[in-house]
Amino acid sequence: MRQPLVIGNWKMNGRRHEAEDLLAAVVRGTADLVSVGIAVCPPYLYLPTALGVLGATGAIACGAQDVSAYTDGAFTGEVSAEMIRDIGCRFAIIGHSERRTLFGETDAVVAKKFARAQEAGLTPVLCVGETAAERDQGQTELVVSRQIEAIVAECGAASLAAAVLAYEPVWAIGTGRAAAPAEAQRVHAFIRRVVARHSTSAAQALRVLYGGSVKAQNARDLFIQDDIDGGLIGGASLLAAEFVGICRAAHLG
Ligand code: PGA
Repeated sequence: MRQPLVIGNWKMNGRRHEAEDLLAAVVRGTADLVSVGIAVCPPYLYLPTALGVLGATGAIACGAQDVSAYTDGAFTGEVSAEMIRDIGCRFAIIGHSERRTLFGETDAVVAKKFARAQEAGLTPVLCVGETAAERDQGQTELVVSRQIEAIVAECGAASLAAAVLAYEPVWAIGTGRAAAPAEAQRVHAFIRRVVARHSTSAAQALRVLYGGSVKAQNARDLFIQDDIDGGLIGGASLLAAEFVGICRAAHLG
């Protein structure tokens, strides 16, 4: 039985007081949801703020939206996985499609970041998913398996057992057009089969989240699918009532 997990990806949004208000409301709204893992990924600058509000209870974890591909050293502007772990984060989103498309991160760079996160003791949340054009050309499985195999090549198959995967079809991110539950389930089952080529136990234990226009209103239909273990939530994670509703849907699912 895999514990459902819901992670909020705030992207580059909010101000300190908004982060405090949002998190206080999320803490209040989810206090009874002991069966659901919950995490938030604010911008780097607000991680200490978030960790302060969330306190030592550990009920809601914090994560970063990215990590450097390098360990500490002369890399101006970068933030290392060690630093993120040092301040008390548990997760790091790795290879989000916005990093891949807007900032040119290749599979090789993503794999290095994945490795740095794991070495530092963070749980990487590896994002995979196809663009609209790739979907139209029937390349979804090809793209997703290539993105996963790049991690296996760099970090070994065992690394997947200590990770979280997020299937985020690029065409569904921020568009209000989520994948249909059955379509998402098909890809999630495929992702599990790709991992099972290397390790059946890792494939069974691995949590595979769905991301892309998840809202409180469509979350349950997605989360009740056999191979969907929760969600990676963008826009809706900035609204307390929406995010709490999504966490509740994972509880019921
Ligand atoms: P969205 O973003 O929920 O706003 O579609 C998801 C994501 O980018 O992780």
